[in-house]
Amino acid sequence: MQKQINGLAVYTYGNKKNTPIIFVHGFPLDNTMWKNQIKFLQKDYYCITYDVRGLGNSYVGDGQYTMEAYVWDLFSIINELNLNKPVLCGLSMGGYISLRAVETNQSKFGGLILCDTKSEADNDTGKLIRAFKINQINTKGIEHFAEEFLSTVFFEDTIKNNSKLYNEFLEIAKSQNPIGVKGALIAMLSRTDTTSFLEKIKLPTLVICGAFDNLTPPVQMRKLAEKIKNSEFSSIPFAGHMSPLENPSMVNDLISGFMKRKIQS
Ligand code: MLT
Repeated sequence: MQKQINGLAVYTYGNKKNTPIIFVHGFPLDNTMWKNQIKFLQKDYYCITYDVRGLGNSYVGDGQYTMEAYVWDLFSIINELNLNKPVLCGLSMGGYISLRAVETNQSKFGGLILCDTKSEADNDTGKLIRAFKINQINTKGIEHFAEEFLSTVFFEDTIKNNSKLYNEFLEIAKSQNPIGVKGALIAMLSRTDTTSFLEKIKLPTLVICGAFDNLTPPVQMRKLAEKIKNSEFSSIPFAGHMSPLENPSMVNDLISGFMKRKIQS
């Protein structure tokens, strides 16, 4: 079912009485990057996903976003849907949103799933790369930007052997509103560093990373997991930075096992 909450396109699946899981997508994609997980999990869980402000079918506005505003958006969905202790599952940019949301109010959540993400804020090189990308969108257009960016996030074998999947998400990235994409780059550039909070996370946490993720590699994500007391880490074979899309069956099994073992319903 699709709803509009606070200008956001929100999608819900499954029985509202089941334990809720909120899926927060990565940049510069939309809610559909979770389609395999939702198809698999909706029989047992109340699955909620949405398009981050400026992307997909959500309100674009003037593109002046911050990570904080993304987090307020997430809390507005939780409040509006009256969700009790949802498990929060975010990939990359969705992981930045999730970590800051848990830092803001951990008591609202029942668990945390972090996929292909990190707690560190952008360093100076990272900020300059964001500036370059904004300029690239302004001068060469969103399609050129999307082609270059997406080729860095998928594992090269996925691009070669599963071109249907790759092209599907390349088209999604190309069709985004450039104002929303530039707004997301600025929101990510200006986010805070949540590393010192990791040791304060009490929630059961699952950390997932594609074995061939070049942006947030397994060695870095394993260190993140080690800082979270109640966490488990898994590296996903045959996957880059988009592990839930590139190896959905393994990610589905991991999430399902984690939910059954660690989350009280
Ligand atoms: C993402 O996948 O959401 C992005 O790679 C995050 C980023 O650019 O920092």
